[in-house]
Amino acid sequence: MTVVAIDGPVGSGKSTVARMAAQRLGYLYLDTGAMYRAVGLLATEAGVRLDDEAAVVPIAAHAELRFDGDGRLFAGDRDVSGLIRSLEMGAAASVVSVLPGVRRLLVERQRTLGAGADIVMEGRDIGTNVFPGAEVKVFLTARPEVRAARRADELCAKGEEVDVDEVLDALLERDRRDSEREVAPLRKAADAVEVDTSKLSLDEVVAAVVAIVRDKVAS
Ligand code: DC
Repeated sequence: MTVVAIDGPVGSGKSTVARMAAQRLGYLYLDTGAMYRAVGLLATEAGVRLDDEAAVVPIAAHAELRFDGDGRLFAGDRDVSGLIRSLEMGAAASVVSVLPGVRRLLVERQRTLGAGADIVMEGRDIGTNVFPGAEVKVFLTARPEVRAARRADELCAKGEEVDVDEVLDALLERDRRDSEREVAPLRKAADAVEVDTSKLSLDEVVAAVVAIVRDKVAS
């Protein structure tokens, strides 16, 4: 069984690349950021402070998060896949993901979902923390301006009104919070292959990731 860990900052192309690479390889795909976003959404709806660990951890514990076969995320019976994709929920996810109790719960869930499977799992700490023994580790990066433009395009496509400078500011703020937190910060694992996607097309990145996986699996 092969775990492919794909980590990287906001807008590095992780989600799309991981999903497409998984499809091409015939592996399962798990978007761990969606789980932090769902906890952010539920905490926002509950009206608690997002940095209040004593309030947010029970919400995460009772969230009953599950993915269906099409990659949609449910909290209990409710499909939250669309709701979690806003700029606001990205920021909320980044705040609740700092809380060690939230991370403990979600990481445990991620390890269970990944155990014994051929899976591409993407996030911030997959290669460093969730599956430090993953057979394949990829760290995707891109220049901040490129990442902001991609994020803005994604949000526009969903009908959200966005200002690229605002997206860039939110992204830099999120990078800072994700990289500076104490528990499992965003960083490249020592044994990860870094791919700078700034000048590559989506197809080129997917092809590079698939090649890295096939290379490792063959050797
Ligand atoms: O990948 P994303 O934008 O959906 O992630 C949302 C936030 O969740 C991100 O800012 C930090 C957090 N996150 C995390 O801490 N660890 C992960 N493995 C995935 C996401």
